[in-house]
Amino acid sequence: MKYLLSIESTCDETAAAIITRDREVLSSVIASQEKLHQRFSGVVPEIAARAHLERILPVIDETLKRAQITSRDLAAIAVATEPGLPGSLLVGLATAKALSWAWNVPLVTVHHVHAHIYACQLVSSEPIFPCVGFVVSGGHTNLYHCHSASRWDYLGGTIDDAVGEAFDKVAVMLGFSYPGGPEISKAAIKGDSRAIPLPRPMVDDHATLNMSFSGLKTAVRYKLVGNGKQDFSKLELSPQLIADMAASFEAAAVECLVAKADLALKKTKLKRLCVGGGVAANRVLRHDLQAMCKRRGVELHIASPDLCTDNAVMGAIAWEKVDRGDFAALDADIRPGLLRQ
Ligand code: KG4
Ligand code: ZN
Repeated sequence: MKYLLSIESTCDETAAAIITRDREVLSSVIASQEKLHQRFSGVVPEIAARAHLERILPVIDETLKRAQITSRDLAAIAVATEPGLPGSLLVGLATAKALSWAWNVPLVTVHHVHAHIYACQLVSSEPIFPCVGFVVSGGHTNLYHCHSASRWDYLGGTIDDAVGEAFDKVAVMLGFSYPGGPEISKAAIKGDSRAIPLPRPMVDDHATLNMSFSGLKTAVRYKLVGNGKQDFSKLELSPQLIADMAASFEAAAVECLVAKADLALKKTKLKRLCVGGGVAANRVLRHDLQAMCKRRGVELHIASPDLCTDNAVMGAIAWEKVDRGDFAALDADIRPGLLRQ
């Protein structure tokens, strides 16, 4: 049996996994950089690229060891080449190319955002396509009409911040460290989601599937400190205000996401919704999407929480390219920006 070595280094996780043709995961290793970026309250691209460089070979080595296979057992090497931070993507691609050449194993490129949605296939025994695909992460908030693993139509997305970025920025205002999404979610449990009125940008705009989260983030800021300059680390907020703001923000962000997923299902008339990306781990979002899909009579697939945030297992989508013989040449390049496709 031949295996797929999948490599992921688009942002701040260095990850590798070994996956069988039947999508069985033999090993998955993730070296997180969270601690390196924490004091900057966000990912610093230069630090991320350097950390990938230090970690990528040990991570791949460990992945092969845990799966108890060698390079001779590989059918292909898959690597995420778009979209992402240029320096981070380059480390992954250069490593994958070098190993592909040295080991004489074919190279396959992976679209990171498509892979986030494909994470749903890993927990489903039935094919997930065709579906509406919804990526909700730190870098992306996009809706797609997914015809198959290789044919995607972009339906709409955020016109400013990604939803995860809004979670992370609001978390900083409330005194949490990076990445703040899980912290907001935890604090919100003790809060009242109706305590602080916040806007739901673009939810009433039924003409497009675009979204906006920057104004919601700014609204939280104004509620906390007015429009003056403020060092949030010096802000003294009561635990109840933190909990209420976390709950109110979470409810507003989730309502925006669910409304647009609902609209995408209505416009496309598709009967399946597949959701991936870090924010898909959010408890309230999972619950409210479930309720909306039930009301619509639509099948909902959400990636398991460990496959919502960045990982190499979702690179299993590359098997579809391997089967088509769609291999990449050694002059393949990165594509850091998200092409609307
Ligand atoms: O998919 P991911 O690991 O990275 C990107 O490709 O961007 O997503 C990370 C994002 C961060 O913004 C993080 O705060 C958010 O996912 N996140 C959450 C939760 N867990 C992670 N946001 C809200 N609630 C959560 N439980
Ligand atoms: Zn991601």
